Amino acid sequence: MNAPALVLEGLSKSFTLHERGGVELRVLDDVSLEVRPGECVVLQGPSGMGKSTLLRLAYGNYKARTGRILVRDGDELVDVASAPPRRVLALRRGTLGYVSQFLRVIPRTSTLEIVAHAARRAGFDAPRAEARARAALSHLALPERLWELPPATFSGGEQQRVNIARTFAADYPILLLDEPTASLDAANAARVLDLVRGARDRGAAILAIFHDRDAAVAVADRFFDLSAARQAV
Ligand SMILES: Nc1ncnc2c1ncn2[C@@H]1O[C@H](COP(=O)(O)OP(=O)(O)O)[C@@H](O)[C@H]1O
Ligand SMILES: [Mg+2]
Repeated sequence: MNAPALVLEGLSKSFTLHERGGVELRVLDDVSLEVRPGECVVLQGPSGMGKSTLLRLAYGNYKARTGRILVRDGDELVDVASAPPRRVLALRRGTLGYVSQFLRVIPRTSTLEIVAHAARRAGFDAPRAEARARAALSHLALPERLWELPPATFSGGEQQRVNIARTFAADYPILLLDEPTASLDAANAARVLDLVRGARDRGAAILAIFHDRDAAVAVADRFFDLSAARQAV
């Protein structure tokens, strides 16, 4: 079997609640998990269990209390938990893609440019990047009249599709997906699931959260239950 693309080892996270007199909230406790290329692992567990926190840790947005987050970058394994910020930013350009529930974009940049830019950063030349951007936006049925506009005034579902198009246009080998279908209608959710399966079948390693059981079942090769992980400690 091929070597894992993403390895979480003994990962723990706690938040210090300063507004509550410095109380420590333990969210993840000694979580270990591997995702291989061509595999989609779906995180499960009740709301508040730390699923989103785990993805943010893997993307380097939060600092882990303990543990390692090993990301395969070519022949190298980089520990996101201890790598310098510059190295983490480099991983985010071409290796590690993250779809959050919220779109953060540069104001005044057109939708097409936001998506194409992500593909160029991942290494596609300008014409290829634009072609990938157009293909992703078309696949997600974002009306072409919106492509030249900045997404700031788009509906939640339209913004989420821009967010998703940007990530899939870049073709990252590792994907972290936090409820990518949450604000979408059934037809658009199905299009997103198509992209997820397509990426997985091309060899991407995917770690995902879905609020909807049917969506999870449609793409999961394996489930990882965070509540069970905690009980096992
Ligand atoms: N930045 C933060 N500061 C303090 N507490 C946080 C922060 N982010 C998440 N939490 C808390 O950590 C717990 C897990 O949150 P989250 O990872 O969003 O859960 P899930 O995605 O499984 O619903 C929740 O109790 C949440 O309130
Ligand atoms: Mg969440």
